[in-house]
Parts: sequence; C-alpha cells; structure tokens
Amino acid sequence: MAIQRTSPQSEPSDNPKTPKPRKTSSEEHILTATANSEEQESREDSLRPQKLADYIGQKDLKDILQIALQAAKNRGEALDHLLFYGPPGLGKTTMSLILAAEMGVNCKITAAPALERPRDITGLLVNLKPGDILFIDEIHRLNRMTEELLYPAMEDGRLDITIGKGQSARIRSIPLVDFTLIGATTNMGALTSPLRDRFGLIQRLRFYEVDELTLIVQRTANLLKTEVTPEGAEEIARRSRGTPRIANRLLRRVRDYAQVKEHPTIDPDIAATALELFNVDPCGLDWTDRLVLNTIIEQFRGGPVGLEAIAAATGEDAKTIEEVYEPYLLQSGFLNRTSRGRVATVEAYQHLGFL
Ligand code: ADE
Repeated sequence: MAIQRTSPQSEPSDNPKTPKPRKTSSEEHILTATANSEEQESREDSLRPQKLADYIGQKDLKDILQIALQAAKNRGEALDHLLFYGPPGLGKTTMSLILAAEMGVNCKITAAPALERPRDITGLLVNLKPGDILFIDEIHRLNRMTEELLYPAMEDGRLDITIGKGQSARIRSIPLVDFTLIGATTNMGALTSPLRDRFGLIQRLRFYEVDELTLIVQRTANLLKTEVTPEGAEEIARRSRGTPRIANRLLRRVRDYAQVKEHPTIDPDIAATALELFNVDPCGLDWTDRLVLNTIIEQFRGGPVGLEAIAAATGEDAKTIEEVYEPYLLQSGFLNRTSRGRVATVEAYQHLGFL
C-alpha cells in the first residue's frame, strides 16, 4: 500500500597520546545512524523488508506485533496506537511500513518538525482512510498545540478545533475515522506522560546481534546483486554498531571499493581493508568514539567524569555525545554510566591499546 511522506524543513580538538588521522567528511556520516538525506531514505525504502516474516531480528517485538496484528484483523479494527523507542536506524519506520502492509492500509509518514502549525496535523488526520497508519517520527519534538490536538484524536477519534479568539472562541469537534498513530522516538524521557499514556503498546527496539546483522548484510547484498561471502558479511556486520542502517551503508561503501579494485566477491579481507579506509575500526568505533574514550582515559584518568566536561575536552556537542555516540559505547561495553559520571571500562583500555 502507499507510502506518503511529508518532510520538515564539529570538529574535535587533537588528542595528545595516540596519533589519529583527522576526521574526513565521509567519516562524519558513515557511522551516524540517523538518515542523512531524503535521497538516502528513498534508497533505504527499496531495501526494506515488506513482510513481518522477512524482518530479521527483534524477535520479541515481532511476536508481540504478530498478536496485535491478528487481533486487530479479526476484530476488523485499526491497530492500537503504538510507540516505538530506541536509537536511530534500528527499524522503527520499516516496522511501521510492514504493519501497514500487513493490515492492507496506507501509511502516512511525517516527523514532528514538519508539524509546526495546527493545520499541518489536522490536514493529515482528516485525510486518513479507515484503518490507516499515521507515523510521526521524533514524536518527542511535537509542539504543545499539536500534541494537544492529538489527545482527543487518539482517545476519542475526534479533532477539537478552536474557532475564533478570546471570549467568542468556540470549540468545534470533527469526527475522525478509526486510525492508528505510530510514534517513534530516540528519546523516551522527553515524551510527556499524557502523550505516552495514550499509546496502547510501547515497545523498545534494541541493537542487533552480529549474526542478525550478518543476515541483513547478506539479504541486502542479494538485493544489490553483489556477491559476499558469509565471513565478508560478518566482517561488515561486526563494524555496524548493532544497526541495520549502518550495516547497509557500510556494505555500499565496501561494494564500491571491491568494484574499483576488481574484486568480484566481498570477503573479510576486502571488507576490512575498505572499512579501514573509512576509519571504521573492527568494533565499529569511529574517530569520535575513540576520541571520547581516549579523552576519558587520558584527561580524566578513566572517569568518572561528567558529560559536559567530556564535551568541553573533545570539542563535541554534549547532546551529540549523549544521543549519537554514547548509546553504542554503553551497549558495546566500552563505557559505563554511573551516578558520578562516565567511566571507561577495561575493554576500552584494551581496545585502544592502553593495556
Ligand atoms: N534491512 C534493514 N533492516 C532490516 C531487518 N531488520 N530485516 C531485514 N532487512 C532489513
């Protein structure tokens, strides 16, 4: 069924001990899990699995959604409103498109920054067909007016529109069709509780295991008509930070490299050589990840150290460190968060050659 989109409109300081090459512009994006452009989004669309059965990983989530799908279909109703949270690139949009396809309904895709004026959200809501899915990315960034329009829409299937101003202002209620709102957020803590409470299902997407990412790389290589050995796929998977979007991006870069070097098949050697070129290390850490860890170890004796101090010492933005770099460093066991600050683990010392 149709996918319809509406779209919204640092250089770290040098670190003394370990000599590191400077960050190149390609590196700045290759390991960032956020979708970098509309062009990239549409490239991703062509690789997305269309059915729940083709979706690799997130087993618990799939089991839960399978039940919700079947129950909604049996009752002939729309799916319950759903909230997906977790780091970027793990498949929140993909899963929403699959749910729409499985339900046989349309999926309208938008993001909170595109819903600035009340008429942006009302326009989307009144044009939904029964059962349709409205997907709102970065839902924690909705403004208050838009968010408050969503409350009665989600709860009672009506839009309350204020007409006029001041004393003569009146509220007109417009009935809406039965629909499903799917919200996606990378920052669950920033969601207000009235909004959070209106979702029937709240589900976290987790980082993928290497064997799951290996299957995803193999599947994508197949779609791109590129030959890759299982070990070659695993080499790419291990460097993909638990994230399918990154795995697919790295695969494209390795494919280019293999083609130019006239290597018809991607094996582990060619994958490793190509990814070293992009400064993606065997654990998927990039220049900034290593800078953050090096800084904690060298300038703060391994921690504990506060986020702001790390940001000041590295020249990176604190929010970027927290939202983009930290989740994977925590997940991969190189960093711990304690009440007194961030601490580099023994694994980080080993990985960076300090032990
Ligand atoms: N491509 C990106 N994510 C995927 C997933 N989880 N399963 C299959 N293919 C994918």
